[in-house]
Amino acid sequence: MSGSLVEIRKLTLGFAGVAVVRDIDIDLPAGKVTALIGESGSGKSLTALALAGLLPKEAEVSGDIRWPGRTEAPQAGRDIGLVFQDPMSSLHPILSIGEQVAEVLATHRPNGKRRWQDHREGARALLDRVGIDGATSLAAYPHQFSGGMRQRVAIAMALAGDPELLIADEPTTALDVRTQGRIVELLKTIGRERSLSLLLITHDLALAAQLADCIVVLYAGRVMEAGPLRRLLDNPRHPYTAGLIATSLDLGRPRTDLLPEIPGSLPQPGEQRDGCPFAPRCPKAGLPCREMMPVWRGTIGDGVACHNAEAAA
Ligand SMILES: Nc1ncnc2c1ncn2[C@@H]1O[C@H](COP(=O)(O)OP(=O)(O)O)[C@@H](O)[C@H]1O
Ligand SMILES: [Mg+2]
Repeated sequence: MSGSLVEIRKLTLGFAGVAVVRDIDIDLPAGKVTALIGESGSGKSLTALALAGLLPKEAEVSGDIRWPGRTEAPQAGRDIGLVFQDPMSSLHPILSIGEQVAEVLATHRPNGKRRWQDHREGARALLDRVGIDGATSLAAYPHQFSGGMRQRVAIAMALAGDPELLIADEPTTALDVRTQGRIVELLKTIGRERSLSLLLITHDLALAAQLADCIVVLYAGRVMEAGPLRRLLDNPRHPYTAGLIATSLDLGRPRTDLLPEIPGSLPQPGEQRDGCPFAPRCPKAGLPCREMMPVWRGTIGDGVACHNAEAAA
């Protein structure tokens, strides 16, 4: 299957008249892993919430989110599965694991059975699939599990509605490095096995590089560059992408904070002027960069917004 599962067009999101995500175009190709990367505060989670139809009601939204293959709007929890940084945000502390997974099945995949008790088998199978012994853990409670196991449960719950799109927002950020690797492996195999489209949201380019087919780089609420993984890593066209690669994929360097060597920080929402938001930190910035947001060059899935980028190869 090819084509886009979702097409985001001219999406702008803001609060009280201040835009925090501006005019973004993103395609999520069907059955592929797209990584949305950017520093904390760049608007990644808000973009995900917009996709899932879960924005807070005070958010101001314009633009379109289209699902070309669908006739009715997708439902979060069913058509769109969500996994967050903190698995406890998806888990109820005093309900058993089995009850919680079965509850999602009863709600979204009832097959005439709306009682969670009728979905124990399904819950067990899902838990087994995410690497947790379903038979023994149905009756366990979240506090009995490690962070990595809770995240596996959260993934099982996100899969329970049989989603077309799985959105994983910083799914491994709270986990130790070894557990991170295992969760990434799990997302990868499950994505393939179910032909899911996966939107991986992360501040960690190294993590994205392990998993993604395509990368979208967000900075201060703007898409700076997008492209297939290899093209983007081998031939970054935006100085920000190049900076990310230099600071996070350098071999032998411990992976700590993402941008120790790009001086400066994200502009605050509202602080932005007309130019490129990266200009104050950009080694190549010239006059046009400070005055005018560059137009997008290339296609939505493979292009760049930079005055200094070469014309598309
Ligand atoms: N409910 C809200 N009300 C006001 N501002 C918000 C709200 N949620 C997010 N923001 C603003 O949007 C910016 C981007 O947020 P977010 O999407 O969470 O960034 P990221 O996930 O990339 O770290 C935040 O820095 C914050 O200023
Ligand atoms: Mg976030």
